[in-house]
Amino acid sequence: MSADSPPRLALTLLDDGKAVARHVARELLSHALAPKPSCLGLATGATMLPVYAALVEAARQLPEGQSRHLRRHWLSYNLDEYVGLGRTHPYSFAAYMHARLTEPLGLDPAALRLPDGLVPDPLAEAGRYAAEIRAAGGIGLQLLGLGVNGHVGFNEPPCDATSICRPVRLCAATRRHNAAAFAGDPAAVPEWAITLGLAEILAARRILVVVTGAAKADVLGRLLRRRPSPELPASWLQGHPAVEVVADRAALSREAGVA
Ligand code: GLP
Repeated sequence: MSADSPPRLALTLLDDGKAVARHVARELLSHALAPKPSCLGLATGATMLPVYAALVEAARQLPEGQSRHLRRHWLSYNLDEYVGLGRTHPYSFAAYMHARLTEPLGLDPAALRLPDGLVPDPLAEAGRYAAEIRAAGGIGLQLLGLGVNGHVGFNEPPCDATSICRPVRLCAATRRHNAAAFAGDPAAVPEWAITLGLAEILAARRILVVVTGAAKADVLGRLLRRRPSPELPASWLQGHPAVEVVADRAALSREAGVA
């Protein structure tokens, strides 16, 4: 690597989204089945739907002792939540997690933590949430999706590596992208969210970035080629010692040199 070329992120390239989902689900499960598992950091979005489905499928095949372990020791913290949407709102990330993991895995709902989108003071809630994660020992394994504009969590560009958990205003492109989860209506997507910052994300011991589909080819190419900069918030991950990008061939289609 020359002095000018960006540091390489470890890349696991798999054939398709299904293979990616199975790979990531295995990693999550083996983390959760450790004798004393540290906290999981979880993400939402379309990318994680097959991941969580694969996790549920794998968990259903566990012997009873391991299922019990999973239920007893599960503690996860999500990256973000929309301001204004409560746990019972069908489009909240809390509802997403409940439907995809809590219910099918029979987990204690209190073991899947998210910022509270309904509090009157989102700034105070962001501080409280970050403090709760620190008090729980920090994140052991952080799962991340990748926004088409390079965001991780809801850290929209420009964003520094030192950003902390805080309320953020979502950009129009993100609201358009996420409209799919709001019956297709970008105006229904809340303008504000509470997100972990890059500081909390980079404090995780290990990070898995999941990138699938041709729509992510451009941003994945930039992530793999560009030096860290505020314009591509995910690029700060290059400074972390234990990041694995797990991608399918479609997402890597602009990176012939890498594949
Ligand atoms: C969303 C979420 C992220 C997610 C990312 C990618 O807006 N805040 O946590 O990982 O953007 O979303 P998708 O998987 O739908 O492309």
